[in-house]
Amino acid sequence: MRIVVRIGGSVIASPPNPGLIRKYAELISDLRSRGHEVAVVVGGGRLAREFIGWAHELGLSEQEQDELAISVSRLFAQMLAMRIGGYGWRTVPVTIEEAARMLNERGVVIMGGIKPGMTTDTVAALIASEVKAEIIVKATDQDGVYTKDPRKYPDAKKIDELSFEELDEMLAENRHRAGIHQIIDPEAARILREKRIKTVVVNGFKPENILLAINGAAVGTIIR
Ligand code: UTP
Repeated sequence: MRIVVRIGGSVIASPPNPGLIRKYAELISDLRSRGHEVAVVVGGGRLAREFIGWAHELGLSEQEQDELAISVSRLFAQMLAMRIGGYGWRTVPVTIEEAARMLNERGVVIMGGIKPGMTTDTVAALIASEVKAEIIVKATDQDGVYTKDPRKYPDAKKIDELSFEELDEMLAENRHRAGIHQIIDPEAARILREKRIKTVVVNGFKPENILLAINGAAVGTIIR
């Protein structure tokens, strides 16, 4: 099966968590040895946002701020890739085409961001669509998609299953409330809906959730 795993910077990089990165490296090698092909997209987390803040203070443009955040995400991708494949895996692909080629060659590719003005969710949706992945698992810092932001509302409820159309309605409602954390970038959601790629949002602090999601277990929030 072709799988895309999107690992939130909030999970492995805020603060950087070598113990967890090691577990992800083991998980990805394990998936590969079971015959799966895996594209991994990692975000830059807190450090990326710090760079954005520093760049902003320096008067750099949004495009420049994004480039710095992308570099940070690539640094985490490089670290994870080297842990799995050694020095030979130090090169992180910088385009979707390059990533697809690497996936075809070695069955695993680890990447960060690709261009300003998007998020790593969209990168994950683009690579999934390019390589015709069966599933995207988004490893995040929450147990799934909630009715409201669970960090602000204690009565927020986790949703077990959602259609892409329902997700779209939720994102449209949230768009009008500034500052609400989007569990999935709306641009990514649009691509996934169009291509009907099953998406599972799980708690990434337990990497075994990725395996459960791939095996079709009821974990996190399943969107299809
Ligand atoms: P994300 O918000 O996608 O990464 O990218 P994250 O750290 O994994 O976030 P969580 O854990 O889901 O919360 C961080 C920033 O990097 C820039 C954008 O500014 C984005 O907000 N970025 C990332 C790009 O400009 N282009 C990319 O392709 C990827």
